[in-house]
Amino acid sequence: MRLQKFLAHAGVASRRASEEIIYSGRVTVDGRIVADPARDVTADDDVRVDGRSVAPAADTVVFALNKPAGVVSTAKDTHRRETVVDLVPAGGRRLYPVGRLDAETTGLILLTDDGDLADLLTHPRYEVEKVYIAEVSGGPVGGETVEALRSGVQLDDGPTLPAGVELLNPQLLRITLREGRKRQVRRMCEAVDHPVLSLRRVKLGPLDVGRLKPGEWRALEATEVDALRAAPRRDHAR
Ligand code: URA
Repeated sequence: MRLQKFLAHAGVASRRASEEIIYSGRVTVDGRIVADPARDVTADDDVRVDGRSVAPAADTVVFALNKPAGVVSTAKDTHRRETVVDLVPAGGRRLYPVGRLDAETTGLILLTDDGDLADLLTHPRYEVEKVYIAEVSGGPVGGETVEALRSGVQLDDGPTLPAGVELLNPQLLRITLREGRKRQVRRMCEAVDHPVLSLRRVKLGPLDVGRLKPGEWRALEATEVDALRAAPRRDHAR
């Protein structure tokens, strides 16, 4: 990879600024000053800026996005609607969403180019927890309804697994699922005669949507990615 790109990928500076840094003689490769931005380097080279070692960029990236309503969570939309991938700067990588949220659902969705991680987080076998806040219609939700949602309701593709359900107020539910069937929360609530008015995902495995506002995103830190990788095992062991 070109030295200029190496520095930019590693987060030292933009490509342009990295070029300037290289021209100004501040960069060494294996102990020698290199002033050529096109010089080829690999992860095995000791690249330094002002004497400080530059770690190569991670092979893969994971972004957390607070998906706004109206944006689809496929990588490409056949109707040319805006997609979650359009909202995050891919930096030349091919990112794709981890799982799906309905177009009208807001909240936490991950984008990554790490296929293994995506598989770990979405495969039904691993039962990774997803937490939703659902505002529902149909009047105040009764205790029996909460119990029914908890123990499992019958949907046209079979009964749902036991779920965590808390009543936050008479028409606001916090629902924790270990499966991710299509429009599951909406169908569950409809099955108990409380259709969903709005739906937001606030948590995926150990990761909370946090302070991200709709439309905002951030790159996850390595420790957060490690925690996500551990989620299937940990959630499954419970
Ligand atoms: N359940 C739904 O019904 N919709 C979503 O987007 C996610 C979970």
